[in-house]
Amino acid sequence: MSLGKKDFLSIADHTTEDLRKILELAKEQKPLARDHKLPHSHPNRTMACVFAKPSLRTRVSFETAIMQLGGNSLFITDQEIGIGKRESIHDVAKVMSRFVDAIMIRWYDHNEVVELAMHSDIPIINGLTDLNHPCQVMGDILTVEEHLGSIDNKTVVMVGDGNNLANSWINAARRFPFNFIIACPEGYEPDDAVMSAAEKDGASFCVTNDPVDAVRGAHVIYSDAFYSMGQEEEAIKRRKDFADFRITNKMLSEADPNHIVMHCLPAHRGEEITDEVMDGKHSVVFDEAENRQHAQRAIIALLMK
Ligand code: CP
Ligand code: NVA
Repeated sequence: MSLGKKDFLSIADHTTEDLRKILELAKEQKPLARDHKLPHSHPNRTMACVFAKPSLRTRVSFETAIMQLGGNSLFITDQEIGIGKRESIHDVAKVMSRFVDAIMIRWYDHNEVVELAMHSDIPIINGLTDLNHPCQVMGDILTVEEHLGSIDNKTVVMVGDGNNLANSWINAARRFPFNFIIACPEGYEPDDAVMSAAEKDGASFCVTNDPVDAVRGAHVIYSDAFYSMGQEEEAIKRRKDFADFRITNKMLSEADPNHIVMHCLPAHRGEEITDEVMDGKHSVVFDEAENRQHAQRAIIALLMK
């Protein structure tokens, strides 16, 4: 079994059938991985994990996932390689393709990752760019389905910034029949091109500036930092602009009684989400973190020869 595409750069690049294959393999392998009984389907394969930004979950989940499949990982920071600076993206792609079997990359400019993929002979997996974070949202859908059953017909409400996660959720709404709402302050809407493509596909999503109204009846309430990696100098302004977008128990009082609360992490506790919500009975944030590994292992397994 494999995916129809060489790379995993955006959820929108893949068919619903391929995305379902990832989720089903992840569900099948999760208990085996937890019991340390997963067969080594990819012995001697090597994946390079390239980071231009910090990471806990992405790094550890990808590195352990490839090891669980019998392979190895290499951790490389962009300080060593200098992609596009020390040498061209094209030349890096060609050289890396001779050494390793796949690359997972966390980067700033999404277009540079697309360029890397274009020139690579091996699968390139997006471990977060400024534009999207597809592996996170695949793990998130896995988490929704574990707790609430199929994501079909559910309402997922993200309260906060129209960032890379919001874009990936909108892409997911193009491929799965759920309703996505982003409640953000004016001026912090998701990417225009991502929204236009989703509109053309007839995806069910909307943007609102009213978080209290948005979460009414919601099945999933989703949180992320008010400022992303690379936006640290905007922190003071954003804290003010997002003052009404902190997820509190009061805000959630009219959500669906069985709602779940998610956060991709790392969380700034007390800023975008209160401790009582993060640690409350509806929170599934640590299941969500674990599911990064299960979803990504399925992605690696299906992409890597
Ligand atoms: N959620 C996530 O991608 O976490 P890291 O930044 O720690 O990898
Ligand atoms: N939007 C955040 C996600 C971190 C996992 C960022 O890009 O920093």
